[in-house]
Amino acid sequence: VTTSNGGERQMPAGIDQSHAAVFLLPSVARAYRHRPPYPAAVPDVVLSLLGDERAGSAAVLDVGCGIGDLARLLVDSVGRVDAVDVSEPMLEEGRRQPGGDHPGLRWISGRVEEAPLEPPYAIAVAGDSLNWTDWYVALPRLHECLDPEGLLVIVHRTWGTRAPEEADVFRRHSTAQGFQPYDLVPELVSRDLFEPENHIRLAGTWRPTIEEYVESRHAQASFSRERMGPEAAEAFDTELAELLRRLVRERRVRAVGEQLMVPVTIQMAWGRPKPGPS
Ligand SMILES: C[S@@+](CC[C@H](N)C(=O)[O-])C[C@H]1O[C@@H](n2cnc3c(N)ncnc32)[C@H](O)[C@@H]1O
Repeated sequence: VTTSNGGERQMPAGIDQSHAAVFLLPSVARAYRHRPPYPAAVPDVVLSLLGDERAGSAAVLDVGCGIGDLARLLVDSVGRVDAVDVSEPMLEEGRRQPGGDHPGLRWISGRVEEAPLEPPYAIAVAGDSLNWTDWYVALPRLHECLDPEGLLVIVHRTWGTRAPEEADVFRRHSTAQGFQPYDLVPELVSRDLFEPENHIRLAGTWRPTIEEYVESRHAQASFSRERMGPEAAEAFDTELAELLRRLVRERRVRAVGEQLMVPVTIQMAWGRPKPGPS
């Protein structure tokens, strides 16, 4: 495949952006609010990058906002947030969440590559979303849409028991069998699409019930109820819930009453999106 400027597009092995259609599925949008919330330190990092003087009036873009987990956290502290996503079910769910009707928050329907945006933005945040875009169009577009000082903050949220048995349950039940994990930031850098400036890793604890934990997994691309089918989804739920109960009994997962104590990790990397390979 050749880019508009003549360069060659290369994607990591096993990456199929057409898989992004999973986020159009209503069950994924409904389950999404069961993902662990972002720790308060996440908006704090974004606000510190903006600086006290700029933050209050800043225009922020949330790329692939989903139900607006980042947008709704930020909107009270900045001038406005434009939250763009290709999935109507996600946007609908986002409007219904606390803060979803904030007057400073504008939901924009469409692919970030071509949606009607209102630049310039002081900062763009992208939580686990750029992976699904056409990097060779999205990153140059973000370059165009940011002001000259503007930064792109790439956020990655993970959670789990860290038990090898859990990884095994995921491997067996995943609907994305060919998927090879990869690190987004180095992939973008190696394609001359992103110039990193710095990064931070935040750790927190999430306290879901077993049912909430299981539901959080159905908000992930590889475990949508529609693509698994009802029988496989039920088998997955039963197996995962039994495993969690066993891990609690064996004291390998801490629990307080009905609530599990689940480690959450947030990686944030910021820098400048580039106009594209020269
Ligand atoms: C894993 S979710 C992340 C949602 C949210 N940013 C978060 O931090 O939880 C990925 C989101 O990216 C959206 N998405 C995928 N491709 C997109 C594109 N080309 N333009 C805009 N949004 C896109 C999906 O619809 C989905 O809502």
